[in-house]
Amino acid sequence: MDSLLIKGGVPLHGDVHISGAKNAVLPLMAATLLTEEECIIHRVPDLSDVKFMGQILQSLGAEVKFDGGTVTIRAAKIKPHGDYELIRKMRGSICIMGPLLSRMRKATVSLPGGCVIGARPIDLHLKGFEALGTKVVINGGYIHATARKLRGNELFLGGRSGPTVLGTANVMMAASLADGVTIIESAACEPEVIDLANFLNAMGAKVVGAGSPTITITGVKALHGAEHEVIPDRIEAATFAIAAAATNGDVTIHGARADHMNAVLDKLREAGVKVERKGPALRVRRNGALKPVDITTLPYSGFPTDVQAQMMLLMCLIPGISIITERIFESRFMHVSELARLGADISIEGPSAIVKGGKPLSGAPVMASDLRASAALVLAGMTAKGTTEVNRIYHLDRGYEKIDSKLRKLGARIERVKES
Ligand code: EPZ
Repeated sequence: MDSLLIKGGVPLHGDVHISGAKNAVLPLMAATLLTEEECIIHRVPDLSDVKFMGQILQSLGAEVKFDGGTVTIRAAKIKPHGDYELIRKMRGSICIMGPLLSRMRKATVSLPGGCVIGARPIDLHLKGFEALGTKVVINGGYIHATARKLRGNELFLGGRSGPTVLGTANVMMAASLADGVTIIESAACEPEVIDLANFLNAMGAKVVGAGSPTITITGVKALHGAEHEVIPDRIEAATFAIAAAATNGDVTIHGARADHMNAVLDKLREAGVKVERKGPALRVRRNGALKPVDITTLPYSGFPTDVQAQMMLLMCLIPGISIITERIFESRFMHVSELARLGADISIEGPSAIVKGGKPLSGAPVMASDLRASAALVLAGMTAKGTTEVNRIYHLDRGYEKIDSKLRKLGARIERVKES
């Protein structure tokens, strides 16, 4: 397994260009199953999760062709089940169920496992499918879903931690070819849900209200091919903004949608980070001493859980006490023990992490555990004295396109060490 060797202490300077959003492109690729016509998606990031999704679609019978940042997909003839091994490996693949049900009235997928950040149940996805007339049977680790006919319905999709992003995507896609009107209450409002709704409408669907807690889908007879450009990755952009602040640098972020990042930019400003608009770009740098802030992760447009680990790293550098409360996932503090190996002083009280910031970090070998925790460890390595080795960076490659070369261009002393 590859690792990253990082020498700390270099402020990042220069320009970085944000890639297309991983959490938008996965449902977008799944949505191409809804038509037998060709779909073209631009600004697709070069990520292992995206390649996985391509393989999953191919295992269902679709033709998938990547050409630089564009993927062309034609799902002319497809089967209702794909390569279970692949589907089991990537949780995001659950969003093929909605389109398969819509197109084939049938879907069999392996039950996605949990992961280090939580159990990751799919009860809300299944509740949505059943509300549309689907019969769901789970046995032997597989979900067998069948529907004689999908009928529109009104349904409440909120769970104990609020809305579900991929659950909303799945039900939107299942409803797009159903008979009648579907109203989803407590829908997720993330920009990635809006991006999917825009793509579905470009394919001829009738989706209204995406981005609000109530989405109305009027089923149509068939959908046609469409061309679409993925929205920029707000989590990647937030990660680079925090990297600029953490290393006391001065970075201009190009291609991001600042309006997708209000909660993060607001918190950075509250901490004393200077965030300025330079035309469509964002310039981020420190503006004197930073102040501790308290954060609670919430559904969009609240502070995103996917930026919690990176923000925790920044809090470690700021003298004083910061409290970070994780309200979306039940165990998303795997990075705490690894940050502690670098000298961070963090204690966990239930859903909250109490960060006593201000002690300088010093480099050490650390282990990546999930996508965003790995990003926090890379940022930590860039601020720690000496050298930090981040192992198992396949987690990082799932969600950050060429992050080491983007950081090197900003001056970071970071090199990828191929596993011998
Ligand atoms: C999406 O996951 C993202 N992944 C996650 O990003 C992100 O952290 C998450 O949304 C929350 O914003 C993709 O889009 C591929 P949820 P998703 O369903 O849709 C509970 C990253 O780092 N829940 O919105 O799977 C669930 O346990 C990844 O890029 C149920 O209870 O998340 C969690 O507590 C990590 N029942 C909460 O809802 C369900 O049926 C939010 O989960 C579904 C979810």
